[in-house]
Amino acid sequence: MKAAVYYENGGPEVLKYEDAPDPQVHPKGVIIRVEAIAIEGGDTLNRWRGPLITHPHIVGYQAAGEIIEVGAEVDHLHVGQKVATLNSAGSHAALRAVPARNCWVIPDGFDVQKAAAIPVTFGTADDCLFEFGRLQKGETVLVQAGASGVGVAAIQLAKRAGAGLILATASSDERLEKLKRLGLDHGINYSTHDVASEVMRLTDNKGANVIVDSVGGPTLQGSINSLAYRGRVSMVGAAGREPMVVDVGSMMGGNRSLSGVFLGAEVGTDRVHNNIQRLIDLAAAGELEVVIDRVFPLAQAAAAHAYIESRAAVGRVVMVP
Ligand SMILES: NC(=O)c1ccc[n+]([C@@H]2O[C@H](COP(=O)([O-])OP(=O)(O)OC[C@H]3O[C@@H](n4cnc5c(N)ncnc54)[C@H](OP(=O)(O)O)[C@@H]3O)[C@@H](O)[C@H]2O)c1
Repeated sequence: MKAAVYYENGGPEVLKYEDAPDPQVHPKGVIIRVEAIAIEGGDTLNRWRGPLITHPHIVGYQAAGEIIEVGAEVDHLHVGQKVATLNSAGSHAALRAVPARNCWVIPDGFDVQKAAAIPVTFGTADDCLFEFGRLQKGETVLVQAGASGVGVAAIQLAKRAGAGLILATASSDERLEKLKRLGLDHGINYSTHDVASEVMRLTDNKGANVIVDSVGGPTLQGSINSLAYRGRVSMVGAAGREPMVVDVGSMMGGNRSLSGVFLGAEVGTDRVHNNIQRLIDLAAAGELEVVIDRVFPLAQAAAAHAYIESRAAVGRVVMVP
């Protein structure tokens, strides 16, 4: 099969489009013919500094396509079904082996590219807001990196849940503008404004009740400084690629909390599995929008990763084998 592989960590240029061995089916898994690969923020981070668990390594969490082989112990999936899949690696390829547990059936007629982009982004955003953030109707939400894959999902899910005020940050006004139609009330351009001061100004000094932070580093300190009394930060990523050194001194007095969120730790549970299927079904029914910024051929994986790192993309970049 064809795949985008790398032999060493580094920038987008380490990705090479080559022949690689076809994956073998596991008794508890399936093989899909990949039709769409959604490039996750974690894929670019893994390419940059993640372990190469295979040599050469095929990176990538999310891909969707058609099942072409089913393991002997799998009885709820069949050849010919279209599924969205999630695994710790292996999305950047024409074929992919995944555990049957990490497959979600794509409703008939729903766009496979959009389905590919749902499990990690919407599943994670949903857990950040509700399972760990305990968002209540009418509360104020701040989404750091609102134009990211997780960010565009979080803005929409917060809006659907009846959040009172939805704030988000991004590196430019142009990026923030594109989030308004998804439910954003006020954008904060962190290149020109201090985030915590702006959150306090926009909330009458009350702060944000729930904050989704997938950037980390100094941004996480800004999130802590933006919290309301009893506010909750869901710390879910390290897109900023800087050390997570923060001062949590203000948490106690304000009865505030900071939760780490890792979808992968619970993706095998019925709770998360069923939640992701629910989110796919909602998107297929037109109730959530999957924002796809650009589509590249898999042969141009290096260019696709470089485009993401140029910070021009809003939502997801997808590749097609
Ligand atoms: N824990 C989990 O379960 C989980 C699940 C999903 C994702 N994640 C993590 O969450 C993070 C975001 O994922 P994603 O898929 O939403 O990412 P993405 O779509 O690639 O977007 C990342 C965003 O981060 C912002 N950013 C800030 N500093 C950056 C920097 N130095 N380099 C690149 N981008 C920077 C950029 O927006 P601006 O230019 O507007 O700042 C960019 O759009 C990643 O660290 C990922 O690993 C974790």
